[in-house]
Amino acid sequence: MKKHHWIQTVIISAGVAGMMTASALAAGSVTKGKYYMKKTCRPCHATKDAKGGLVTPLTKTQAQWKEYFKENKHNKGTQKLSDVLPANKLVHIEAFCVAHASDSPQPETCGG
Ligand code: HEC
Repeated sequence: MKKHHWIQTVIISAGVAGMMTASALAAGSVTKGKYYMKKTCRPCHATKDAKGGLVTPLTKTQAQWKEYFKENKHNKGTQKLSDVLPANKLVHIEAFCVAHASDSPQPETCGG
């Protein structure tokens, strides 16, 4: 009987951990975001003189990035950010930008 309870606890804990992992993925992957940002955004945003000016995770705070992705506007509001890249990929870029924002524990530029 005791053993049975122990096994049940293990199974329930594994289930909860699995759910937590799944929701973390749904909220976006920092690693994928870095990849997509380099590939899609960086060509227009690598330097101050680039077409879109310098944009890296460091150019905004965590709150500013969340707001920016929520508004879904790009290029001074002239287009949707989701027209640049589909929303299911933007979630990863958002995760990357927030994780490395200027006020994040790990500030980081796009690198490369
Ligand atoms: C084809 C070129 C191009 C691509 C690709 C591009 N941008 Fe931009 N982006 C621009 C231009 C142009 C502006 C306007 C710059 C200005 O203010 O003069 C801009 C502006 C911005 C700004 C400043 C605020 C705003 O919206 O005006 C942010 C932040 C930004 N882009 C993020 C991104 C992200 C994230 C991606 C990738 C998903 C991306 N951009 C892809 C050209 C691009």
